[in-house]
Amino acid sequence: MTERFIGLMSGTSRDGVDAVLTEIRETGPVRVVDHCQLGYPDDLAQELATAATTETLRYRHLGALDARLGMLFARTVQALLDQTGLAPTAIRAIGSHGQTVHHAPDADPPFTWQIGDPFRIAEATGIDTVAQFRPRDIAAGGEGAPLACGFHATQFGSTDETRAVLNLGGIANITWLQPGQPVIGFDCGPANTLMDDWNRRHHQTPFDHDGAWARSGTPDPELLTRLLQDSFFQRPPPKSTGPEYFSPAWLRAGAGDRLDRARPEDIQATLAELTVEGVRHALEHLHMQPPARLLVCGGGAHNRHLMKRLAKALPATLVETTERHGVPPQQVEGAAFAWLAARTLAGEPGNLPEVTGARGPRVLGCIIPGGPRAPGGH
Ligand SMILES: Nc1ncnc2c1ncn2[C@@H]1O[C@H](COP(=O)(O)OP(=O)(O)O)[C@@H](O)[C@H]1O
Ligand SMILES: [Mg+2]
Repeated sequence: MTERFIGLMSGTSRDGVDAVLTEIRETGPVRVVDHCQLGYPDDLAQELATAATTETLRYRHLGALDARLGMLFARTVQALLDQTGLAPTAIRAIGSHGQTVHHAPDADPPFTWQIGDPFRIAEATGIDTVAQFRPRDIAAGGEGAPLACGFHATQFGSTDETRAVLNLGGIANITWLQPGQPVIGFDCGPANTLMDDWNRRHHQTPFDHDGAWARSGTPDPELLTRLLQDSFFQRPPPKSTGPEYFSPAWLRAGAGDRLDRARPEDIQATLAELTVEGVRHALEHLHMQPPARLLVCGGGAHNRHLMKRLAKALPATLVETTERHGVPPQQVEGAAFAWLAARTLAGEPGNLPEVTGARGPRVLGCIIPGGPRAPGGH
């Protein structure tokens, strides 16, 4: 039986919400049918940035942010339904990742926190909503991330060649898919958040379109080496990170007054190179043969400069986007959360313990019934 699920994703780039309509069967790849993206209104983006970087926040502020995000998520689903002409009853469930305000798998005790009130999504759409995927994995001793690896394996795995899937969101994460071997997946370093922030400091644009600004600069090898000395790059998986770690403050701590002395475009070029080197390090660190193909997704797949630099750094690997494999780059992570929602409703685990380090496979998230009655209730 094929059922429709909607995945809702809003990642660490805080660029907006992606809603992805999928058709899912019990086994086999997901069919990605349609997509709708709503950007965050400026004030909301600013408040989220503050929430993610500030040490203290009032409860009422956080509560209001949670509610406003939930309403925006619901509106994104509605926009997708309007676009497709589908009724809410045509959708089995929504899988909502939420917006991470803090990811701290190394804290004592470890925690991860996503907001975007899922009750409002269920209430506004009438569709069963699955949310809060990460905390169960953390409770089971895992990193709570990355969670898209199971989906990457189902969707992009091959029986005859080794592939890696690279998601270039705010942070970069990689999924290693070798035929007949357990999946390996982890966050491998920063990606768009540092470049976006540096770009915003010098331009009136949200990001460095196509990486044109980075391309106009020259990477600083000494600074690059210094940044790559961060112990995160050397640490073996499981590991995950977030923009609260690879933050503008992290960059300043590593770069010192070079940030003020260097040409800004050279810093941008160095940050692009840092993303590429993080990926190369990750592959080398695991003593892996280069994969036959690297399938790139996330917004960074649209950064032509980054894609070229990746191809240059991995000469034995065919670097291409997931578009070639049936899923546009910006829709992969949303589709993953649609798939995760389907797993939860089927009572199947969504995490891969070999990836997250959890004590075992776990059914993730909580299910909020869309209608006034429980699904199947009387
Ligand atoms: N044409 C483009 N050129 C360069 N960068 C791009 C382009 N399109 C998107 N991006 C980058 O992708 C980011 C969004 O990626 P996304 O996968 O949505 O990340 P996240 O999951 O963290 O929200 C943007 O902030 C921007 O940095
Ligand atoms: Mg995004």
